[in-house]
Amino acid sequence: MLADDWWRHAVIYQVYPRSFADANGDGMGDLPGVISRLPYLADLGVDALWLNPFYASPQNDAGYDVADYRRVDDLFGTVADAEKLIESAHALGLRVIFDIVPNHTSSAHAWFVEALATPPGTGIWSRYHCVRGRGDDGQEPPNDWLSVFGGLAWTQIPDPASGDPTGWWYLHLFDTTQPDLNWDDPEVWAEHERVLRFWFDRGVDGFRIDVAHGLVKTEDYPMSGEQPGMYSLELDTPVLPQWDQPGVHEVYRAWRGIANSYDPPRTFCGEVVVPTPESHAMYLRPDELHTAFNFHYLRTRWDAAHLREVIDHSLATAGSVGAPCTWVLSNHDVRRHVTRLAPVESDGSVDLERGLARARAASMVMLALPGSAYLYQGEELGLPEVIDLPAEARQDPTFLRTAGEVIGRDGCRVPIPWEGTTPSFGFGPSEESWLPQPDFFAGLSVAAQTGVADSTLEMYRSALRIRKDQPGLGDGELEWLDSPPDVVAFARGSVTVVANMGDEPITWPTDAMLLASSPAVTFANGNVTVAPETAVWISGRR
Ligand code: GLC
Repeated sequence: MLADDWWRHAVIYQVYPRSFADANGDGMGDLPGVISRLPYLADLGVDALWLNPFYASPQNDAGYDVADYRRVDDLFGTVADAEKLIESAHALGLRVIFDIVPNHTSSAHAWFVEALATPPGTGIWSRYHCVRGRGDDGQEPPNDWLSVFGGLAWTQIPDPASGDPTGWWYLHLFDTTQPDLNWDDPEVWAEHERVLRFWFDRGVDGFRIDVAHGLVKTEDYPMSGEQPGMYSLELDTPVLPQWDQPGVHEVYRAWRGIANSYDPPRTFCGEVVVPTPESHAMYLRPDELHTAFNFHYLRTRWDAAHLREVIDHSLATAGSVGAPCTWVLSNHDVRRHVTRLAPVESDGSVDLERGLARARAASMVMLALPGSAYLYQGEELGLPEVIDLPAEARQDPTFLRTAGEVIGRDGCRVPIPWEGTTPSFGFGPSEESWLPQPDFFAGLSVAAQTGVADSTLEMYRSALRIRKDQPGLGDGELEWLDSPPDVVAFARGSVTVVANMGDEPITWPTDAMLLASSPAVTFANGNVTVAPETAVWISGRR
């Protein structure tokens, strides 16, 4: 049984329900599919799983457009399936985290449907950002804010009787079908408390909070200078009026109180995208969120000095408020790290073989850092991004709203291969999968890698086993060791971690090898020789 502070050092596996396992053969993953694969996760050695939204939704943004937070979409199953999932996971010693989407609802949510039938600026419109446009007749949008998915963040509200455009607009920082909620309205607070309690009462151990830094907007909607989206992590980016406003912290103080009223206490992990680790740490104060993804780390280049700097700064800032760091390399919104870290050739192509070597080394570094770590389904198989999906198969609103100019996130969301040599590679009982799977998935399936020494899957299994056995890994101190500039080397308890990010092999003294990210490692005469693009965990501190 895990202790109440499990979240400080847990390894959490992100299940993207659409693409994990399909029990009914309709080509879409579902909750019964996840339940059937829980033993795989327990065997892999993770502590918990986080599931992306599976609530009732028109699926315009893969479920991040929620129409009813207390219903499971028919695509994925029922509330009873969600309850069974929690119970089955707990029986295997796994914690379960769901996803809450408080920044916006779907336009199919009962509130927004009712609003559209109400004269703008009155009644239930107070739950959304319903604002007069500029110009005498309000025909210009209220300000210059842009949608993260492309285009303007405002849509003109039609007159409920005539259907003609009015001088009123509603805000949507994402798709037009994702109207932003107005957190000045007490009923928005009350409803979210009910939603939290609904799932907490069913035993869920915590929530990942979508767009956690976005809930509160600056009063009077000032211009932002048409700065793009929420994903800028550049340190010199100004804080925009639509993001990271001080009032958001009050929401999390209230939520923490609710989480703490349960036994065992429930936990939160915020999707907090803010320019500096200092503003990030504000969300992690003891009476706010337990954890928040460290996206500065996700963005690190294959560069030892850069990596050391980000790790140091992150540990110091999270530590300043007593919080652990939460490391992550891949998720459903970014290019898989095999592809992202791969060197780019002169013709623009990427060297995926070296990308995989780097990704494996990077994962071993991550799994040895103090704090918790999130794995994204399929990274334990070494899956690269699927870059050549046909345009007609793509479903990401980013692709659709930019007419294909931004390729979008479908390439990291392709259903994962479990076994076999033809689609759906064991994803479900039929050949269907909602995004097409490439042929090379056959060689990367769970079955193809199980029991194969040196496979990526077995490397992850070993890493997670060692992490559990070695008390020095997980939460705790990190001590940098003297090393050549292209090498990242640190001690964690009695384990030393060495990652060679340079071009030449290096040697390091040790009594024993625990794990290597590649077979290109030799151990002789008390020294380990580590090839480029390789990481090792070794015993002892030298
Ligand atoms: C978050 C989710 C992303 C979604 C967006 C809008 O960034 O991770 O998938 O599109 O919020 O809800």
